[in-house]
Amino acid sequence: MSKQILCLPGDGIGPEIVTEALKVLDVIKQKFNLDIEISDGLVGGASIDAYGVPLSDEVLAVAKKSDGILFGAVGGPKWDDQPMMNRPERGLLKLRSEMDLFANLRPAMLFPQLAEASSLKHELVAGLDILIVRELTGGIYFGEPRGIRTLESGEREGYNSYVYRESEIKRIAKVAFEAAQKRGGQLTSVDKSNVLEVTALWRELVTEMGKDYSDVELSHMYVDNAAMQLVRAPKQFDVMVTGNMFGDILSDCAAMLTGSIGMLPSASLNDANQGMYEPVHGSAPDIAGEGKANPLAQILSLAMLLRYSLNEVAAADAIEQAVSDVLDLGLRTGDIVSEGCTLVNTSEMGDAVVRSLQA
Ligand code: IPM
Ligand code: MG
Repeated sequence: MSKQILCLPGDGIGPEIVTEALKVLDVIKQKFNLDIEISDGLVGGASIDAYGVPLSDEVLAVAKKSDGILFGAVGGPKWDDQPMMNRPERGLLKLRSEMDLFANLRPAMLFPQLAEASSLKHELVAGLDILIVRELTGGIYFGEPRGIRTLESGEREGYNSYVYRESEIKRIAKVAFEAAQKRGGQLTSVDKSNVLEVTALWRELVTEMGKDYSDVELSHMYVDNAAMQLVRAPKQFDVMVTGNMFGDILSDCAAMLTGSIGMLPSASLNDANQGMYEPVHGSAPDIAGEGKANPLAQILSLAMLLRYSLNEVAAADAIEQAVSDVLDLGLRTGDIVSEGCTLVNTSEMGDAVVRSLQA
């Protein structure tokens, strides 16, 4: 039976970079003789414009039946005055939560060719290879109650709830321990257990589980220190596990260590191995439509889709190798360009990856 991939390009640079990933998928399908059917749909601002909501029931239903979703990016100033629960980002959050995509894997790996593009000194980042495991369907992003209310005094107050159930903590910790077993055997759990009860519970449960993973060296770190350590000595980390909001922040930070957030893919998985795959970067409305966007994070997200949800490991390896090849050729989009390299636009970069796969 053919595998189903749903493409949701979204807003801003999303459509441009998804176009490049689809060129790559086309070649990969032929090269590895893959039986894949591709459909597409609207999400985010594009969906608000067409249907009034950031994710329609129809698109959600197709998503739930797909083996993998290739997601671009959502959001932009055009939709800034939408009410919170109808903003473009809600489309993404609803997909994550409705499909129970609780495990967000965000690798931050430095391609040696890009060491010069990092804002940190070469010796601090050379060989960098971190995996951030971010809980994606709970925590303060989804906690109830939430809202903005008017107090008796007439002053308004905004409030959110930071909640984690034991089962939510344990299932993400399990993913992280298992990832550490397959990688360098080190796991750092990030919390704020000196201040927040919810993360004190987090630390207690992760510590308890650590006893069952004697082959993993577990440590704990407060989130403020973790942010500092990421820019001070990032190579001390192997796998990091943390909640939704801390993971959002730390993964942007880790991304920048690698030279550009334009290089980093991510996978969001549920227990059925269904997954949504998206670049860590956002919709970059400031450069949308100008051909400046780096399509490599989207192309690497496609590689993750093939690896995790379709189990096509050779195809995923081939894409990652092709990306490395184009970097070897010195081709760079504006976000990663440095002296002596060739500046290319979005589609030239996609074409170069395609050529490398065909060679
Ligand atoms: C991310 C993004 C999203 C998040 C936004 C677009 C809702 O920043 O995937 O990191 O906060 O999770
Ligand atoms: Mg983010």
